[in-house]
Amino acid sequence: MGKGVLTHATTRVSHPAYEPFPRVGGALHCEGIALEALAERVGTPAYVYSTAAIREQYRLLDSAFATLPHRLHYSVKANSSLAVLALLRELGAGLDIVSGGELHRAMLAGFTGADIVFSGVGKTERELHEALTVGVRLVNVESEGELLLLDEVARRRGVLAPVALRVNPEVAVQTPHEYTRTGSRGHKFGIPFDDALDAARLATTLKGIRLLGLDMHIGSQISEFEPYGAAIERVLELRRRIERECDTKLTVLDVGGGLSVPYDDEAPADVDRYARGVSELVADTGLDLVLEPGRFLVANAGILLTRVLYRKRSGTKEYVIADAGMNDLMRPSHYQAFHHVEAVVPNGGRGTADVVGPVCESGDFFALERLMDDVRPGELLAVRSAGAYGFVMASNYNSRPRAAEVLVDGDRYAIATERERYEDLVRQEHVNPTWSTIR
Ligand code: LLP
Repeated sequence: MGKGVLTHATTRVSHPAYEPFPRVGGALHCEGIALEALAERVGTPAYVYSTAAIREQYRLLDSAFATLPHRLHYSVKANSSLAVLALLRELGAGLDIVSGGELHRAMLAGFTGADIVFSGVGKTERELHEALTVGVRLVNVESEGELLLLDEVARRRGVLAPVALRVNPEVAVQTPHEYTRTGSRGHKFGIPFDDALDAARLATTLKGIRLLGLDMHIGSQISEFEPYGAAIERVLELRRRIERECDTKLTVLDVGGGLSVPYDDEAPADVDRYARGVSELVADTGLDLVLEPGRFLVANAGILLTRVLYRKRSGTKEYVIADAGMNDLMRPSHYQAFHHVEAVVPNGGRGTADVVGPVCESGDFFALERLMDDVRPGELLAVRSAGAYGFVMASNYNSRPRAAEVLVDGDRYAIATERERYEDLVRQEHVNPTWSTIR
């Protein structure tokens, strides 16, 4: 999966010029830090992120759009570590958030309201209120109900809510897993295409709403330009109709996120092709572009570092049992997603094995029937491409404390998130809860 137009470059292939996880004398490093030494210091399992890789991906995408008025609003859900957010702020990114919790993180990382677009299909009244309190750049509204509620909240506060309507462009989208498609007819996301004009009409009559533009997000891990092109064309056509029939000007176009990254041996997304395609469609419109990349900026900047606990043979199966589990990285289990797994310091052997974790589920795996480096108990594995939708999707299932997150910058490292302790697991709980009655 994952090969397509965007990965068949016609001009320059946008390979990262830079390898964030080089092998030095066979041993895997993150930038200038040996991962074996790092594991000794910080323990395992641990997420390790290369700051240089994040910078490089940001620069690649941002510079591809240099000729258009645009801003990259990093999609916080991909990796919401405060230190990662702060790094992206330094690079000039804005944020795309989907919850009050992400807004809280954004503020702690030093962003202001003007840096933020607020997406999401089910924003609560409280979240809308919080968004207006900090003065977000845009609320991406996904339904008529949300529009009415936002209007009410805004009027109560005596402010105008800046709005883009998230429209479902209803185009065919291919992604490696159906869970990551969002832009086809019948999906829960966005305003159904045929209802969008009415929603815009309504928006322009509401006293608390300032309709600024349109928004779309068609899915994640998209490697073809075609669905983007088709969706943008539909949204631009809608914009013309809205401007004509509602006598209003729409100045912002948010094209969402979704650019693919290589997990296996796919070519990287051709961001120049993507930017050129978008530019051909919007350059003459005068629209301010918003992009919401998540995975593209962080996925291949990160690995999950885990230590092998045991080897086991069962029937015809050979198991490598690691100290990280599906609670730490659920993508393989949840999406049958492919992640490279390799020895940090290879011992020279190869073999076929299932790499599994300690969680009491047969779905707790990172790789199945994988021909890979041989690893003995005590040795380290790196699970690649874990910088996006890794730690953020972790849980405490089986009462497992969540892993540490570590940033690397050249020959320095810093703990971005401390490993959870047992106390953290039960902080919110009551052994003897206080009983109440309701009359
Ligand atoms: N904007 C919106 C409104 C989104 O819903 C998403 C992702 C993005 C931007 C960023 O998409 P990206 O550039 O990262 O593809 N957990 C899944 C991915 C779910 C994506 C959800 N929405 C995974 O592990 O593959």
